[in-house]
Amino acid sequence: MQQPTRIGGIARWHLLFGLTFAALGMLLGIYMAISHNHVERPAHAHVMLLGFVVSTLYAIVYQVWLKATPVRLAMVQTICHQLGALVLSLGLVLMFGGVLPEAQLEPVLAVGALSALAGVLLMIFQVLRVAQERDAPAAEAVLPGAV
Ligand code: HEM
Ligand code: HEM
Repeated sequence: MQQPTRIGGIARWHLLFGLTFAALGMLLGIYMAISHNHVERPAHAHVMLLGFVVSTLYAIVYQVWLKATPVRLAMVQTICHQLGALVLSLGLVLMFGGVLPEAQLEPVLAVGALSALAGVLLMIFQVLRVAQERDAPAAEAVLPGAV
């Protein structure tokens, strides 16, 4: 059986986390529909979009474009995005559910938002880095016979 590459493993983690967010977000959506109480709508939207959709897109980007990216960088990116999505989603659920006051949750939401932002910035960095490496002319093309 073919072993997954290490970047394939990172892509799989994004996909697994994304699908878990999908299941939890759908449960929240079903709860809103049954209770006829849509107060958690923004929390549901972010679990579904930042948690499920963005994580799944990252999984695809790793699989298709970032096979040559350093694994450590990819791991840091994964932690930033997944932690950000989790903290932001939980914070929004607690805030819109009225469990904790907004003033107490604001720093938590800020940490989640900045962590998710770091995740997308690291993604941009990796895409640019891999594209630059691919576009750089090989030494032999510049200096024929040099290598
Ligand atoms: C079991 C499946 C789902 C259920 C039961 C469900 C339920 C709901 C409910 C009750 C609302 C509030 C509607 C309103 O107050 O106007 C809502 C809003 C929303 N849902 Fe879902 N949902 C489901 C799946 C999804 C999926 C798969 C996504 C995206 C990938 C999604 C994204 C959204 C978004 C973005 C909103 C906010 C829409 C707006 O801003 O008006 N939902 N959903
Ligand atoms: C750093 C991450 C993010 C932060 C801090 C953030 C923040 C916010 C805020 C403050 C609102 C207004 C909530 C309200 O009072 O109703 C909002 C709404 C919304 N955001 Fe985000 N957002 C983030 C990421 C995203 C992403 C990645 C998506 C989609 C891919 C998204 C989709 C939406 C949608 C659809 C709404 C409207 C939800 C509704 O109608 O209830 N957000 N966001």
